[in-house]
Amino acid sequence: MDWGMKNRMSKIIRPEDNRCVMLAVDHGYFLGPTERLEVPSNIIKPLLSYADSLMLTRGILRTSVNPNNGLPIVLRVSGGSSIVGEDLSNETITTSVEEAIRLNASCLAISIFVGSKHEHQTLSNLAKLVNEGERYGIPVLAVTAVGKEMARDARYLGLACRIAAELGAHIVKTYYCENFEKVIEGCPIPVIIAGGKKLQEVDALELAYNAVQHGAAGVDMGRNIWQSDYAVEMIKAVRAIVHENLNVNEAYNILLKAKNEKGEEKGQLQQQKIVKSTD
Ligand code: R5P
Repeated sequence: MDWGMKNRMSKIIRPEDNRCVMLAVDHGYFLGPTERLEVPSNIIKPLLSYADSLMLTRGILRTSVNPNNGLPIVLRVSGGSSIVGEDLSNETITTSVEEAIRLNASCLAISIFVGSKHEHQTLSNLAKLVNEGERYGIPVLAVTAVGKEMARDARYLGLACRIAAELGAHIVKTYYCENFEKVIEGCPIPVIIAGGKKLQEVDALELAYNAVQHGAAGVDMGRNIWQSDYAVEMIKAVRAIVHENLNVNEAYNILLKAKNEKGEEKGQLQQQKIVKSTD
């Protein structure tokens, strides 16, 4: 790996512990003004200090993020379909590598839709982007997007992650699932997990905890952070799980403290989770 590629990778996956907290705010690229992300700058600003990197499109980067902020950027460069359109998998590369360099992106992100009508097209997009990324020393994050009809199990996600790695992606983002260690075992590049739809906070923390315990390099999380009423505490808690190896109860206490201050929950954990801790 060349110096530039190594340097950019180190901004995404922290070399101290080989872990990563990526804050995802790219949802508008196909969902439009997603709940709580209607005014991106409002939601992004207070969370920036707790993320290792920020994943978004060039439009939201230019309009909603202060360029004086030093946070590494993971630039989403695929899109072209919407939630109300015919087929979400019909994506193209929307942003050139020249533009990504202009924006000082540390990583390029692109979705692949394995098993979909546009599987070939999205995998070709990934391969082309890796070729460009290698030329300029910019790593590529493959986002294993899942259609409504596709199972989120280890067999399918393992297939998608492995294909991403085979095509040269440097990092892959997928979903946590049962037998997640099988996904990790078959994938020679770092795997990070999305949070998915908003869960109870304690459940989202458990998801992050289980993922890193089973080999994930960290998270690329959005809705479960900024759709929470305690978004700052939520990202702090996720960060503590990823970088400080806190267990779920310890991390949830970060939220409880804030909730107690607001008088929403008193004293102990409302939902005690039995966590198989390896520590
Ligand atoms: C999905 O297409 C986007 O790339 C999101 O960035 C990704 O799914 C992570 O966000 P969330 O944790 O909300 O699922």
